[in-house]
Amino acid sequence: MLASLTLEEKASLLSGLDRWRTKPVERAGVPSVWLSDGPHGVRRETEPDVSLPATAFPTSSALGATWDPELVEQVAAAIGREAAAQGVHVMLGPGINIKRTPLCGRNFEYLAEDPVLSGVLGAAYVRGMQSTGVGATVKHLAANNQENGRHWMSSEVDERTLREVYLAAFERVVTTAAPRLVMSSYNRVNGVHSSQNPWLLTHVLRDEWGFQGAVVSDWISVHDRVAALRAGLDLEMPGVDGVTDAEVVVAVRAGELDEAIVDRAALRLLALVDAVLPAVQGQVLDDSVLADHRALARRAAADATVLLANDGVLPLDPAAAQRIALIGRFADEPRIQGRGSACVNPRGQSSIREALAAELGDLVTYLPGYPAHDDDPARIDEHLVDAAVGAVRGSDAAIVVVGLPDHVESEGYDRTHLELPAAQQVLLEVLAATGTPLVVVLVSGSAVRLGEWHGAASAVVQAWLAGQEAGPALADVLLGRADPGGRLGETFPLRLEDTPAHLSYPGERGRARYAEGVFVGHRWYDARRMEVRHPFGHGLSYTTFDYTALEVGAMDPESGDVPVALTVTNTGGRPGSDVVQVYVEPAAAPVARPPRELKAFRKVRLEAGESRRVELTLSHRDFAWYDVDSGSWARSAGIARVVVGRSSRDLRLGVDVEVVLPPGAAAPATDAELEPRALAWSAGESERRRVR
Ligand code: BGC
Repeated sequence: MLASLTLEEKASLLSGLDRWRTKPVERAGVPSVWLSDGPHGVRRETEPDVSLPATAFPTSSALGATWDPELVEQVAAAIGREAAAQGVHVMLGPGINIKRTPLCGRNFEYLAEDPVLSGVLGAAYVRGMQSTGVGATVKHLAANNQENGRHWMSSEVDERTLREVYLAAFERVVTTAAPRLVMSSYNRVNGVHSSQNPWLLTHVLRDEWGFQGAVVSDWISVHDRVAALRAGLDLEMPGVDGVTDAEVVVAVRAGELDEAIVDRAALRLLALVDAVLPAVQGQVLDDSVLADHRALARRAAADATVLLANDGVLPLDPAAAQRIALIGRFADEPRIQGRGSACVNPRGQSSIREALAAELGDLVTYLPGYPAHDDDPARIDEHLVDAAVGAVRGSDAAIVVVGLPDHVESEGYDRTHLELPAAQQVLLEVLAATGTPLVVVLVSGSAVRLGEWHGAASAVVQAWLAGQEAGPALADVLLGRADPGGRLGETFPLRLEDTPAHLSYPGERGRARYAEGVFVGHRWYDARRMEVRHPFGHGLSYTTFDYTALEVGAMDPESGDVPVALTVTNTGGRPGSDVVQVYVEPAAAPVARPPRELKAFRKVRLEAGESRRVELTLSHRDFAWYDVDSGSWARSAGIARVVVGRSSRDLRLGVDVEVVLPPGAAAPATDAELEPRALAWSAGESERRRVR
């Protein structure tokens, strides 16, 4: 096919027909394919800002909090089925950028602050999506960790940090799940636009990771099409009326661009079209499939719900005939997703108010408590507060639903602080003083600061932006029909000033310097031994779990593999789920390493009293650090420790393991060995400067 295409036709394949389609080559029988956002449902536009209804699944923050690759795979497969039925060949997701700062406006679209959690769940998403034949697009490569200035800022990140944190999730997804597409990011990485960055798009992505698919630009992020093609970008989206196609043709004719580069990209596009075309043939969704998707969205939302604190007030007993005050506008006007390109037109949605009323009838009294979210969030309406206080005083328990206003969490800009709106904070303080047990439900796609009211609340529930079934799912959790299955994929800090990027975010004069290096997320708080409000990995269940009999085998010197096994027992009286988290405390190394890092995890569901042996294998990379001097992953010989726990701060068991090198392997260069090299380099540099 490639040989039969003219240069103009090949160039035309490499940019969009419009916002969503690739260009066909009708003469040669090459059809166009349709790309749609993602990631938590299909946004198949019919005209600008109007899209077909689709099941709105929990957003990525929520999916990240499930710590459940099988569930994420099922959700992605459901989204894939809906995409195919709407004629969509490629979904523009998952987004797996690391949550470097809780302020990033797009955090609700990302999975976690941690590369292992993001990578494992991102790979599961791609596998699920592509099991339906629809192509997945992992985005945004790379270091797109803030929205402010995203079109021009340069993320200035040292190579070790890129490799260990910001590229690691992409590497795992590309090497284990083979996504059809990778999307380059808007920002520059170390000065070079991602869409035109040969180190990123060719050296790392293709030569090192072996990526076989196509690279698509983020929408309107190509500044020089010829440079982008040379760097390894294949498809410019959306189309710009063929203007840049003509530039490609001219560059080839002028001998400035090797036609082989155009051929290579055209071949990737032809391969993509070939691979995804069958997906949409004969896909129909009947009512029973849609009902299954709705049920899955509800199960996923419950499984994402994080019970942050509970003095025993939860679960509520539906048979106890308690009078419940349900306070907070979000209980009636649900926030189910964030703003921007990910926004899905949901197939329906019902509120927590409806869900509880259906269950408890007149026992539930609803009052808004604070002004509508489009109002000035700082406006405190005393009438609303007084009415809420009255209702709470006359009740046995109160559920107070608070969260971030809709316009605060969006693509295109960041949050400016971590606070809940002032009106909600005042409401919470006043209600906490009533003495009625308070269950506070937080609706947000990212961490918020929990104020002084936190200590007085009987329970605190992080409900995220949990998609169209958020209301019924929350009722399932509050009434104990579902165990709160979520664990935090991001730390809830005490204050903004504590967060890792605080002093270097959002950057200045076009550069965001990632000064905290590899100390991102729990690595930062642990290295600094800082108190946090709720640590990474935290989340309570309605039952209790015990960890026993941790066994850590000897390291295989060749592969670096280390077998790990432990027994998890549900010691409580109800069925429930837990996430076994395996952290490695590294052996001493010639570089600064975090005290411990998440390396593996397993979600287990156990009946009351049930025990299960959980077996996992750690590997070389789980003990290694990236050695920029040798350009490879190095492990340092010495004693490391494998610790297992229920969060990064609730570590239950640990066993030392001796890290050994393969026979004959050279240890990473020591500082003493590096010194002469560095001195030689600086001598050469002085000489070069003198000559200049
Ligand atoms: C976003 C991408 C999205 C694309 C298409 C861009 O603004 O950054 O994530 O896929 O638009 O809507």
